[in-house]
Amino acid sequence: MTTLSNARVSEMFAAFFGYQPVTTLKAPGRVNLIGEHTDYNGGFVLPAAINYNTYIAIAPRDDRQLKLVAYNFDNQSCTVDLDAVQAHNAEESWPNYVRGVVQELRKNGFRLAGGDLYIAGNVPAGAGLSSSASLEIALIRALLALSGEVIDPTKAALVGQAAENNFVGCNCGIMDQLISARGQENAALLIDCQDLSVRPVSMPADWEILIVHSGVKRGLVDSEYNQRRQQCEAAAAFFGQTSLRAVELDQLLAAEGKLDDLSFRRARHVLTENARTLAAAAALAAGDLSALIEVMLASHASMRDDFNITTPAIDTLVDILVEAGAGQAGARMTGGGFGGCVVAVAPAAVIPRLMAAVETNYQAQTGCIPTLIRAKASAGAF
Ligand code: GLA
Repeated sequence: MTTLSNARVSEMFAAFFGYQPVTTLKAPGRVNLIGEHTDYNGGFVLPAAINYNTYIAIAPRDDRQLKLVAYNFDNQSCTVDLDAVQAHNAEESWPNYVRGVVQELRKNGFRLAGGDLYIAGNVPAGAGLSSSASLEIALIRALLALSGEVIDPTKAALVGQAAENNFVGCNCGIMDQLISARGQENAALLIDCQDLSVRPVSMPADWEILIVHSGVKRGLVDSEYNQRRQQCEAAAAFFGQTSLRAVELDQLLAAEGKLDDLSFRRARHVLTENARTLAAAAALAAGDLSALIEVMLASHASMRDDFNITTPAIDTLVDILVEAGAGQAGARMTGGGFGGCVVAVAPAAVIPRLMAAVETNYQAQTGCIPTLIRAKASAGAF
């Protein structure tokens, strides 16, 4: 992948459209350190924005059209009439995100103006690193820069989420869009998804984040994801609640045998994951590596055994990292599940050992090809 930057994407715009853009904007992908499938249950998450972005170079047009070009799709282009009712087209991929964002911005009263846009990104797609959310947030910034409107970052996240829920068809929570909009350099954000409050949690300066793509293509993602969400809602309904956030762990444990086993396990994952996320934020802030490792491993086991969203290759990858870390590295699957990436956190001095172990053992044991990504906790789009 070509190295991308604002300057590089401006050049790509100029090469395609034959004139200079007025500006280039970007929004990052994210890695979730812990707190998986808790966001749509009103729970806690602890993601960090990463130094991989979607970039959009823009220039105004004097009509009511958007002309968009996507570098990552062989310079495929799409035109959107800002005055038309936007319709989802199942034959298309990325243009649906554009139409969804246009529709949701309009619904929320934002003025839009015509423009030429060149989009290029280096957030790996289908990896659980939120390339979709980074596209949505970058589009919101780009479209509002064209019309000269201002948006609050949390509102931008809600608009991006609504585009995905109402238009693209994934019933995702708020985590990915919120961290892409509001991430902070060298920190993870502890987000309370019930009231959308955020608290930056700095990482000790000598710790690093290593992301390993498992090479496993994520399959059936949207249908499995939406099904997990329904199962959580059904479990909450058993307790007469609309969200699992309103259910206490003791209450759940007392209902074992009365609540069906599947709902029980789904809810146990969510409630224990909320507690682990708070513990992880405290461990990160205190520089307590053993406490962080303990909750990361417990989180992975809970995703594997109670929420059933890991795959055998991902489980093997976590085992390889944990063994190589020998008590100095935490690791767990990150993101929605069914493939994608594993995240490890360890002192910088331990990272080369983890990388070597993945390179030596992972493909040999699973037949899958790993990609190693040393990521930095980075600033969000706003
Ligand atoms: C996807 C969704 C998020 C979140 C995670 C799982 O990334 O977009 O809202 O639910 O899965 O934690």
